[in-house]
Amino acid sequence: MRSHKCGELNETHLDQEVDLCGWAHRRRDHGGVIFIDLRDREGLVQVVFDPDQPDAFKVAEAVRSEYVLRVHGKVRRRPAGTENRNLGTGAVEVFATQLEILNRAETPPFPIESDIEVNEETRLRYRYIDLRRPLMQQRMRMRRDITRFLRNFLDDEGFYEIETPFLTKATPEGARDYLVPSRTHPNCFFALPQSPQLYKQLLMVSGMDRYYQVVRCFRDEDLRADRQPEFTQLDIETSFMNEDEITALMEAMIRELYQAVLQVELPNPFPRLTHAEAMRRYASDKPDLRIPLELVDVADLLQRVEFKVFAGPANDPEGRVVALKAPGAGEMSRKQIDDLTQFVAIYGAKGLAYIKVNDPAAGIAGLQSPIVKFIPEPAVQTILERTQAKAGDLIFFGADKARIVNEAMGALRVKLGHDLGLVSKTWAPLWVTDFPMFEHDEKANRWVALHHPFTAPKCSLEELTANPGAALSRAYDMVMNGTELGGGSVRIHRTDLQSKVFELLGIGEEEAQRKFGFLLHALKYGAPPHGGLAFGMDRLVMLMTEATSIREVMAFPKTQSAWCPMVDAPAEASEEQLKELGIRLRKPPVAEAG
Ligand code: AMO
Ligand code: AMP
Repeated sequence: MRSHKCGELNETHLDQEVDLCGWAHRRRDHGGVIFIDLRDREGLVQVVFDPDQPDAFKVAEAVRSEYVLRVHGKVRRRPAGTENRNLGTGAVEVFATQLEILNRAETPPFPIESDIEVNEETRLRYRYIDLRRPLMQQRMRMRRDITRFLRNFLDDEGFYEIETPFLTKATPEGARDYLVPSRTHPNCFFALPQSPQLYKQLLMVSGMDRYYQVVRCFRDEDLRADRQPEFTQLDIETSFMNEDEITALMEAMIRELYQAVLQVELPNPFPRLTHAEAMRRYASDKPDLRIPLELVDVADLLQRVEFKVFAGPANDPEGRVVALKAPGAGEMSRKQIDDLTQFVAIYGAKGLAYIKVNDPAAGIAGLQSPIVKFIPEPAVQTILERTQAKAGDLIFFGADKARIVNEAMGALRVKLGHDLGLVSKTWAPLWVTDFPMFEHDEKANRWVALHHPFTAPKCSLEELTANPGAALSRAYDMVMNGTELGGGSVRIHRTDLQSKVFELLGIGEEEAQRKFGFLLHALKYGAPPHGGLAFGMDRLVMLMTEATSIREVMAFPKTQSAWCPMVDAPAEASEEQLKELGIRLRKPPVAEAG
């Protein structure tokens, strides 16, 4: 039907006869001459209809926005002064001699422009139109380029792409499962995979050596800008590689990807931080290293002060007291500080003490603060020294259980970085390593795996048993600009150690057999040492396209409430289907809002 794409025409095509197909992006009537910007995936080209070509001209008069057209014409240079430098095809236009309307279109619900202000539900309801917008087309193209690069890289490195089942058994990655009832096995359910974790480990037992998969994962969890109920991982597993070898290969892949797709040079090697250091300096396990702010521990200075707000956590082994200097923020108004206090309250902080540093040389008199009166002068001086405070700076304080301080002050650090314009215009990748094996769940009073229960510890079985809380794991996360891009670990490949970890996690022998018997069994048949990781593809594409949410780089995402307004899913099942599945609903279905 066509000889060229609209967006690819340029001066090399001058005087050629072309056939183009596409959508009428815009039609302008210029006193007797009609211009139609014809659009396809590659871009726009201006088509000119002159009354001298009466057949084509007559059809052009009937064209409306988004009509689908086929044009025959000749490429010519645009008259001097009418070139459009912003357009790839801007030096040329097509003088049409034939025009065919392939399909008509109703007026679209919003304009097909990159910049539109339309609510997301409408965009998702008409996603097929939303995806016509040049910005969305660019994002989909970038996603294609990224996936293609990664596949080629891994193919060249000897990885096999192998598919694993969607109808399977629960994989513990910390979210709720999506269940699928089985018709052939009454009362039984498949779980959609939260990740292919166990299959990829079994593929290593099978001797596949190097595996990858661009794979959909399903997690029923609370959604955010960087979380969707179904999302795509680049899932990877290797045999006979240790963590240094795995992370070196993976960062080479990401470095080459950035070079190929964005022409960006990432650091070589990526910086590395242990989990403990990341928490200490940035109060985050995914620190945004573009922000040059660091937390400073000050609990040791405040153990004996009368101010209980500080002395309490300073003396509590689970407490933490930190200072965070906001350079040059001394001018902040009371209202701005109150707003920040409300901001940290979201994370459970009970207040946000501060010191405005007017003149650090003048001692206490040079400071302005609701709390200095409670703190002995030498301690205040040491705080000023540790934070290297200068005139015009503002120092914030967080004091509470370490968990609350880390969440609140970690978030405040990022917010201040943005608010004060301190975020450097670079890419800041890093590895976070040496995560604790376990985290203590206070409510349930038990250990939970920080990564997943198949992650190998750094220590021996004996040391792990003696002190599970102190054990570190052989896990690693790749972080980019404050987003966790991917994570993985060296796995447990011996049955005794795997059984021990299940036991420490409070998974009894019977339960372990029922849930993971196949794994424990497989590990007995010559499982090689193995490890790997998984990247969040949507997050990677989001970062590389500078989109603000992974929904912007997925063709058909769901809303924040895990609903698809376009096909209106999830939907009720018919009585007949339920009967066939042996399911009776406990409550009459509630009418779906929206
Ligand atoms: P993990 O659970 O860390 O590890 O997931 C790996 C990466 O997947 C992305 N991700 C998500 N992206 C969008 N929406 C979600 N709901 C979502 N959840 C996770 C993140 C994350 O870093 N099996 C292990 C990997 C391994 O050990 O090899 C796993 O799934 O970018
Ligand atoms: P208060 O004595 O509660 O009025 O608090 C005095 C100052 O300490 C105020 O600036 C509070 O915002 C701050 N503050 C209170 N609790 C905390 C806390 N847990 N961490 C940091 N600052 C706090």
